[in-house]
Amino acid sequence: MEDQVEQVVQWLAVARTITVLTGAGVSKESGIPTFRDAMEGLWAEFDPQVLASPEGFRRNPGLVWRWYAARANQAGDVSPNPGHHALARLGELKPVSLITQNVDGLHQRAGSREVLELHGNILRHRCFDQGHPMPIERPWEVEEPPVCPQCGSLARPDVIWFGELLPVDVLERALQASQECHVMLVVGTSGLVQPAASLPHYARETGAHLIEINPDRTPLTRHVDAYLSGPAATVLPHLVAGVEQLLAKQ
Ligand code: OAD
Repeated sequence: MEDQVEQVVQWLAVARTITVLTGAGVSKESGIPTFRDAMEGLWAEFDPQVLASPEGFRRNPGLVWRWYAARANQAGDVSPNPGHHALARLGELKPVSLITQNVDGLHQRAGSREVLELHGNILRHRCFDQGHPMPIERPWEVEEPPVCPQCGSLARPDVIWFGELLPVDVLERALQASQECHVMLVVGTSGLVQPAASLPHYARETGAHLIEINPDRTPLTRHVDAYLSGPAATVLPHLVAGVEQLLAKQ
């Protein structure tokens, strides 16, 4: 793998623009379980149709509210790991567009700026009917969803649920970043959920080098130029340290 790492470091060092797509795996070493890890995946214990859909919320708003509030509490309790920090550092060294499917806000807390959050953010809230922003600081201390002062509908987490569309402006910017980059890093995602899963293919079609970092192979692996097997919190700091060294020599 060291040869591959060296090659990837070179691609990153000379790339004019880099786009990074992250998924749940990048937050795993922070202590947030991934969605599909067989034994501990979030959905293994809960039915996503009940907890992560507009229908589920209509049926039992309190249950959905409390489940998300517990996750928000967890996201607030944990810290960014060396993988998040390495990506923030890469953003200081090179022009980086960071697209994430994660809703935990850990990239921003590690110092990455302008993160494109495809699936929203669990620490933000808006009302169910009209989408009015509703700042709620400690949702885990509230048993039932608060009522929107503007329209009277209930507060919900500002995340994308099953059957819902992604925010158009964020998706457009993610598409553009994928089509314009010279290198794309795909980190810690199973590549099973659309439209995020298509972004690496857009990057590849427009000639970018595609690099995957994941301890397990995914449907994307056979399409990439380099596959670096391992945890994000180990591989990313190693890569970014290499880029930093190479740039310092130039
Ligand atoms: P998944 O849970 O589907 O996949 C996590 C990926 O991370 C897997 O490919 C693992 O092999 C990999 N992984 C595990 N540990 C890792 C580590 N330490 N370092 C790097 N990779 C590691 O999560 P996502 O692909 O993010 O959507 O899931 C995509 C979307 O599906 C989520 O955003 C969510 C879910 O439905 C919504 O909530 C809308």
